[in-house]
Amino acid sequence: MSLPVPVLRLGYEKLIRPALFAAYGGDPESIHERMIELLAGAGSRQWVRSLVGLLAAAPGRPTRVAGIAFGSRVGLAAGMDKDASAVLAWRALGFGFAELGTITAQGQPGNDRPRIFRLPASGALINRMGFNNPGASAVAASLAARGIYRGNGAAGLPVGISIGKTKLVPVAEAIDDYLSSLRTLAPHADYLAVNVSSPNTPGLRSLQDGGALAGLVAALVAEAQELAGTGTDPLPIFVKVAPDLSFDQLDEVLEVCTAAGAAGLIATNTTLARNGLAPTEAGLADQAGGLSGAPLARRALEVVAHLAKNTDLPIIGVGGITAPHLAMAMFDAGAALVQLYTGFLYRGPALAAGINRLDLDRLHR
Ligand SMILES: Cc1cc2nc3c(=O)[nH]c(=O)nc-3n(C[C@H](O)[C@H](O)[C@H](O)COP(=O)(O)O)c2cc1C
Repeated sequence: MSLPVPVLRLGYEKLIRPALFAAYGGDPESIHERMIELLAGAGSRQWVRSLVGLLAAAPGRPTRVAGIAFGSRVGLAAGMDKDASAVLAWRALGFGFAELGTITAQGQPGNDRPRIFRLPASGALINRMGFNNPGASAVAASLAARGIYRGNGAAGLPVGISIGKTKLVPVAEAIDDYLSSLRTLAPHADYLAVNVSSPNTPGLRSLQDGGALAGLVAALVAEAQELAGTGTDPLPIFVKVAPDLSFDQLDEVLEVCTAAGAAGLIATNTTLARNGLAPTEAGLADQAGGLSGAPLARRALEVVAHLAKNTDLPIIGVGGITAPHLAMAMFDAGAALVQLYTGFLYRGPALAAGINRLDLDRLHR
């Protein structure tokens, strides 16, 4: 039971969003930080979670992917809850899983501000955050303090943790840096996402090249196996790819991920392309960073369809999902799960509720 989707939608778009977008002189990052703080506070109170969940969260279609039981097929994409502080809030806002991070082995401040730009007429964002986060040990401690461990359901939903390369660590030493994050964070995650596709860390995307990716994924899978020992399933490792790879490059990624034992792929991260911007916002196209939201929808869907056609590995579809029918298109193209970032910002919890409703309706039809 939740409020009807149109009521949720109107409430967010007519009341909450205008106030949010105007706060702090319209600075997107300041309001983001404040919202995460609020969600962290509210999420830590059981009665608030129950009340918000009752109003905003609609039950979705349960599924099992990579051995993990998901309550619904729509999740929160990486980058929204970079330090995992609001982890307890996401279920009440309608999500069936949450991907936290990206976290790096060493804490780092990220790029200089301003580094997020809203493009409302295009339904988009451009960001060049650069993995600002407190580091793997701090995040592990904060998850431990909330009692969140692999498989125990303490967050109310499955938790993915996205790991990336520390900026100061050279690309040639990336494997050890990722391994260090894996060792620190593995006890607290239901799956791990290897981020090799952010455009905002110099050289990171070169880790998507066949040889480099093979070494990295094989090392992470081997370490996950070692940590699990015998008798426990190793932590599933997903690899997140960029939408700017060609089909040939995607085929190589698939081959490498399959051979190295990855559990699945996440497609896609933000794009360096600038197609599809509203004419009034074309002036922002020059801002460095990754573009997300509506202009990315077509390419992300194309990438998911291409991957799903060529593999049995599960694909998590993400990119430009701003309405429930676009999530259904991702499922129809072969995605096992979907994630939201920009669409959630513009549409609010109504989007997750709308996707869950439609997904469940289609199951029962
Ligand atoms: C401000 C911002 C920060 C992001 N940070 C991360 C990140 O840290 N790690 C990551 O894998 N993806 C990150 N992303 C990418 C999203 O997870 C997602 O892949 C992308 O935005 C496309 O989905 P969307 O169109 O629904 O936003 C970020 C996106 C935005 C807008």
